[in-house]
Amino acid sequence: MFDPSGARVLVTGASSGLGAALSVGLAERGAVVGLCARRADRLAEVLEQVREHSPGSRSWTVDLADLDRIDGFARQVTEELGGIDVLVNNAGIPKRRWAWQHRPDEIAEVLRLNVESPIRLTTALLADLAASSGHVVMIGSVAARLAPPNEAVYSASKAAVTAYAEGLRVDLGVAGVPVGVHVVQPGVLSTELFELPDNDPSLSDVEPLPPTAIVDAVLGALVSGAAETFVPEWFRDLPPVKAGDLDGFLRGAIEYTQGRLAALGAPLPEPPGAPS
Ligand SMILES: NC(=O)c1ccc[n+]([C@@H]2O[C@H](COP(=O)([O-])OP(=O)(O)OC[C@H]3O[C@@H](n4cnc5c(N)ncnc54)[C@H](OP(=O)(O)O)[C@@H]3O)[C@@H](O)[C@H]2O)c1
Repeated sequence: MFDPSGARVLVTGASSGLGAALSVGLAERGAVVGLCARRADRLAEVLEQVREHSPGSRSWTVDLADLDRIDGFARQVTEELGGIDVLVNNAGIPKRRWAWQHRPDEIAEVLRLNVESPIRLTTALLADLAASSGHVVMIGSVAARLAPPNEAVYSASKAAVTAYAEGLRVDLGVAGVPVGVHVVQPGVLSTELFELPDNDPSLSDVEPLPPTAIVDAVLGALVSGAAETFVPEWFRDLPPVKAGDLDGFLRGAIEYTQGRLAALGAPLPEPPGAPS
């Protein structure tokens, strides 16, 4: 059974939000945490908290959207941590935009960071994870399963890593490789993701959980071995409803969103081709 004490864990996107909360939570339980992200100042603040519990932890400033750097970064991590037991692919960006309004550059940006980068990093670290009978955790989103409005490209990115994780689990199983693969699908946790520029305002009316809710979800997945975990857990009940009546579910999503926009006093989206 997974024991966080002494586990060497790489958390991507550890400078804020869920990655920061998870890094501190794992360090409190004795893990040696490797943190990475782009903002050196924010990483340093999180590393300081992490080292209060786990002095051997460290951080790297890296742009994970620079795919050519991934293999070299993976080698550096395993050398400096002395191996790796858990990779948490958490770094990600949102894109709240009506489906036809996405710019080509932002479609590429979302897919590069949310999909290509974690797949490349996982691939680069897989032999080392196999050597330690380790684990890969993908931080997806309930958007992977629920077709939320105003997030079609983001949802596609999270569905892609969810499908990748399922396929990876099967392929590793076929080969008899002892690496656990888990997807954790957060709902709404209070982080900077909802404040980032170049995004439409969030339409969510779900009461946000604190970012620390991610800690028990990830630990629960590692200990139980579960393929998919939702935070909060009640989101687990929704995908079967959607699968049972996809047309009805999507019709309901349209009606619900139109009502939500009206309640917010916000206009309906401009149709494709409307002058901007
Ligand atoms: N909060 C929620 O309710 C929620 C719901 C569903 C899914 N999620 C997922 O949870 C994950 C974490 O998001 P969050 O809510 O914690 O938001 P956040 O506070 O904005 O954290 C995002 C993290 O990703 C890092 N990052 C962004 N671009 C990067 C890049 N190019 N290279 C390296 N690191 C990069 C950011 O650090 P730097 O800017 O310093 O690089 C930051 O540490 C994301 O995958 C998100 O999709 C969150």
